[in-house]
Amino acid sequence: MLLYDTHAHIAEEEYELDLEKVLERARGAGVAYINNVGYNLESSNRAITLAENNSMVYASVGFHPHNATEAGPGYLDELKSLAAHPRVVALGEIGLDYYRDLSPRELQRKVFREQLSLARELGLPVIIHDREAHGELMGILRELRLGPAGGVMHCYSGSWEMAQELLAMGFYISIAGPVTYQNASRLKDVARQIPPDRLLLETDAPYLTPAPHRGKRNEPSYIAYTAAEIASLREIEVEELAKSCTENGRRLFGIA
Ligand code: NI
Repeated sequence: MLLYDTHAHIAEEEYELDLEKVLERARGAGVAYINNVGYNLESSNRAITLAENNSMVYASVGFHPHNATEAGPGYLDELKSLAAHPRVVALGEIGLDYYRDLSPRELQRKVFREQLSLARELGLPVIIHDREAHGELMGILRELRLGPAGGVMHCYSGSWEMAQELLAMGFYISIAGPVTYQNASRLKDVARQIPPDRLLLETDAPYLTPAPHRGKRNEPSYIAYTAAEIASLREIEVEELAKSCTENGRRLFGIA
């Protein structure tokens, strides 16, 4: 089995004591690639350091909507210089979060728009976070459009109708652990219908732990549960699903 965890946060204190073991278990489960995703300047720097030290890890740099207030003057230049690092494969995670509202919404929108434009300028794909902000997020995407380098809607939680519009815009859709939860009928339905060449898998570790370990810390090896669930929904072998999702991830993030 060949898996690509396209979204994880493992350069965090949750893994301080056992990161080597976590990576070993990931390799054991067939995970060949991990995107470690930043959410502010410090975490983006940590992502790059982790990627420098582990050949299976790639970095993404950006400001999460929760951290929009930390995006001070000059943050775009700082991101630009981080993004020049050869291990950086995407800009993100960027987007809107009206569920927790940890930054003022107007500032979230400004920082999201600026980073979308930066990604286009740099020719990098975007990793987009959207929680309870579907309407405004889609409005911004319709206006600014996705750059030619493409992007992914991470931890997808919207409807099949919204997924169809995102697919038409050129997006990949990434599904995380919640698809394994019994009551996730809408997400299961979306996971069944995404075209095979547009589907990505992710853990969003340490969050969103799949069903058998729900409530505990998540880690990249658990992506196997998400893959198994989606393969069974699509009535295909898990190896086949893993292979096509991994090819999709390598194509989007430019991994040879
Ligand atoms: Ni995330």
